[in-house]
Amino acid sequence: MTMHQVQDRTWRVERYERPATLDEAMEILATHGDRARIVAGATDLLLEMQRKLRQVDVLVDLSAIDGLDDITLNEGMITLGPLVTHRQVVTSDIVRSGGLPLAQASLEVGSAQLRNRATVVGNLVTASPANDTISALMALGATVTLISSKGSRVVPLDHFYTGVRTTVMKPHEIMSAVTFEALTGSASGVFAKVGLRSAQAISVVHAAVVLERDGATVTSALIALGSVAPTIVLVDAADILVGSELTTDVITRCANACAGEVRPIDDVRATAAYRTDMVRVAVARMLASLQAGTEAATWPERMMTLSGGSQPAATTVSVGGSDEIQITVNGTRTVGASATFETLLDWIRTKATDTEGAPLTGTKEGCAEGECGACTVHMDGQAVLACLVPAAAADGRSVTTIEGATSDTEHDLEASLVSCGAVQCGYCTPGFVMSASSMLAEHDNLTEAEIRDGLGGNICRCTGYTSIVEALDIAGKVTS
Ligand SMILES: Cc1cc2nc3c(=O)[nH]c(=O)nc-3n(C[C@H](O)[C@H](O)[C@H](O)COP(=O)(O)OP(=O)(O)OC[C@H]3O[C@@H](n4cnc5c(N)ncnc54)[C@H](O)[C@@H]3O)c2cc1C
Ligand code: FES
Ligand code: FES
Repeated sequence: MTMHQVQDRTWRVERYERPATLDEAMEILATHGDRARIVAGATDLLLEMQRKLRQVDVLVDLSAIDGLDDITLNEGMITLGPLVTHRQVVTSDIVRSGGLPLAQASLEVGSAQLRNRATVVGNLVTASPANDTISALMALGATVTLISSKGSRVVPLDHFYTGVRTTVMKPHEIMSAVTFEALTGSASGVFAKVGLRSAQAISVVHAAVVLERDGATVTSALIALGSVAPTIVLVDAADILVGSELTTDVITRCANACAGEVRPIDDVRATAAYRTDMVRVAVARMLASLQAGTEAATWPERMMTLSGGSQPAATTVSVGGSDEIQITVNGTRTVGASATFETLLDWIRTKATDTEGAPLTGTKEGCAEGECGACTVHMDGQAVLACLVPAAAADGRSVTTIEGATSDTEHDLEASLVSCGAVQCGYCTPGFVMSASSMLAEHDNLTEAEIRDGLGGNICRCTGYTSIVEALDIAGKVTS
């Protein structure tokens, strides 16, 4: 019987390696060639493997190597290590003040749970023309550093892409850094995205603009556009701005020229005609915001990162390349057999138990592809989507599931959900509770907009959300 790709989610790798140094990682890649692949957050790679778009025998996880998740500012240059997540970017003062378009792009990626795992480098290497941080970093004039056992090279990001999801990177190379000049003084930039919903939306179009001005006159301009061609493109229309002030006439001419340069396609998200129109609208609005100095106006006062989750004391140690993994689930260390073919979600549901031996099946699978949030658990205190975490990536970590969270929260969330009628079929509820308990632990006095923002990665097909938002509002005010 042939199964639909959504039902047939089998994937298997021969080995899941967690090298202790970059040299070791380069050696593994050199040995296995294109059969080995670096895995970072796995939010792209796992789905590509499940959908049989990519065959990988050896996954190389860099998370045991120190210092790869640093964001640094040195002599005016901002550098991101290969494990820097979108959450780190949106909470970084360095990026917010010196690379606003990147911070804005990272904030548009998926949901808070996804941003807790997904990396900027993974976004760049996947090379989809819809990937948000590519355009931001192209407009910022970023370069990427590629290292291998044969040496290293620095490639300007606008020379990195060769076609849809293809790049100049060789199978044995690791992207070790992303670097760009911090925006200071007369330089400014902005990113904008048009999507079909406010979270988990692949862009209809997106754009980034970075300008340098002498007084009011533009002295240099880069405009990158995404979802409008096989690769993200820097458009010639940006030259219209150079030597001019950002008057309404100049802005209109530039926006029209941008729309004239792109060749988008019709697809399920939008028609080519709509995309072209949205390029015109987005570019005009972005330039107007730079002229008014309001490009950061929509930046949230408080960030909902869902990283305030409960984290029982962990006593386990990583066992690296061994077949057996150990995960502390709700405070109980659980040792399980080989997990080179399982997600954390499957592993929890089939191998972990409570102290009495009962299976932990409270964490639900809704979509199995990161869209619905039903599988949300806390890993080392951060809300993550268990269906997108390879179980082996949780080796040595501490995980809290719904069974562990309900007893921990200081807010009476369960009672609020029940009293507001926020539970109907209940299938989404464990995921909502995990996200909600993170939010309540992260910030006091949540506003309705913050609650809706924080719950953006959780879908409920029954309630219509109003009652869930109301329950969180009440729980936030009542502590038990
Ligand atoms: C539900 C959902 C919503 C999403 N929404 C968005 C969105 O709104 N916008 C958007 O742009 N993307 C979105 N994505 C795509 C994805 O989350 C991002 O592209 C993410 O940044 C990928 O990072 P990762 O760490 O998970 O990468 P991985 O999946 O770990 O890796 C991606 C690719 O990069 C390679 N790689 C990773 N690190 C390195 C390295 N150091 N050197 C060499 N190769 C490396 C891997 O081998 C793999 O080919 C979404 C995905 C899902 C599932
Ligand atoms: S997001 Fe994991 S099951 Fe839907
Ligand atoms: S209560 Fe049924 S899906 Fe949310």
